[in-house]
Amino acid sequence: MALLAIPSFFKIFAFFAFFLVSVFASEWIEYSSNGFATLTHYSLPLDYIASCGCTADSTHYPTAALSQMAYGSSTAYGPACGRCFNLTLLNTFLSVPPFYPPEQKSIVVKVTDLCPLSTAGWCNATTNGPNAAGHYLNFDLAYPSTSISSDFFPSNSSYYGYTDFGVWNISYESVACSGWEGWNDAAALGSVTGQGPASVCCAADPTNSSNTCTSYSDHNGIA
Ligand SMILES: *[C@@H]1O[C@H](CO)[C@@H](O)[C@H](O)[C@H]1NC(C)=O
Ligand SMILES: *[C@@H]1O[C@H](CO)[C@@H](O)[C@H](O)[C@H]1NC(C)=O
Ligand SMILES: *[C@@H]1O[C@H](CO)[C@@H](O)[C@H](O)[C@H]1NC(C)=O
Ligand SMILES: *[C@@H]1O[C@H](CO)[C@@H](O)[C@H](O)[C@H]1NC(C)=O
Ligand SMILES: *[C@@H]1O[C@H](CO)[C@@H](O)[C@H](O)[C@H]1NC(C)=O
Repeated sequence: MALLAIPSFFKIFAFFAFFLVSVFASEWIEYSSNGFATLTHYSLPLDYIASCGCTADSTHYPTAALSQMAYGSSTAYGPACGRCFNLTLLNTFLSVPPFYPPEQKSIVVKVTDLCPLSTAGWCNATTNGPNAAGHYLNFDLAYPSTSISSDFFPSNSSYYGYTDFGVWNISYESVACSGWEGWNDAAALGSVTGQGPASVCCAADPTNSSNTCTSYSDHNGIA
């Protein structure tokens, strides 16, 4: 009897683990149209086609990856793809002392990429808790970028000894993509062609309800 009990215990355990994973995966973060977030930056080569499948020309303008559980998919496109956000740099908080720039800079980005869920790091927020700054969203700005001036991130290197603070506390606001720098360039809008509609979705302006993406993961039953 004891020998039989072992496999059934594992079956129950496996079922429970699967149940946890499926419940966890469906808990995408619902966020309001404005609030606070963190901003980091990452390297995205010019003309690179990122997770959403936005056109190569989208990289000629400011773009960002969004933390996975807010992005809304574990792979390929998510409901956040194509959305535009006005991001405003507020302060750094890892530097000693924190840095509050004399001038608050803003930038409108389009979400074209996924910042993968991690156990630590800035894209680790889930519905169970925020990232280390207390925020549920992290925008990972594609930077340097030909569309963003090299002094976009303010700093005081004479005082801190470095110019790149790495992570910023920001405010964000969901905006219509007509406010995005690439809006008047048709080649920068929409999805790449030839990949099939099943693997790409980059809405030109998701604030227009006739123009949204669903979650690739939910669509395809992927956790
Ligand atoms: C994310 O990582 C930070 C440490 O970097 C930790 O304080 C925080 O609790 C983590 N959040 C989640 C939801 O795991
Ligand atoms: C981010 O900025 C808001 C508004 O100024 C502030 O309330 C919050 O404490 C800041 N968070 C961090 C981690 O600096
Ligand atoms: C940099 O910080 C130092 C020390 O606080 C200050 O005297 C100087 O004016 C700052 N420079 C700029 C450009 O803000
Ligand atoms: C972005 O936010 C800043 C600060 O709130 C504001 O001054 C600016 O007009 C906004 N830009 C857009 C395009 O919404
Ligand atoms: C929303 O998108 C549709 C389809 O692209 C377009 O015909 C319509 O004019 C758009 N509406 C607004 C308010 O921009």
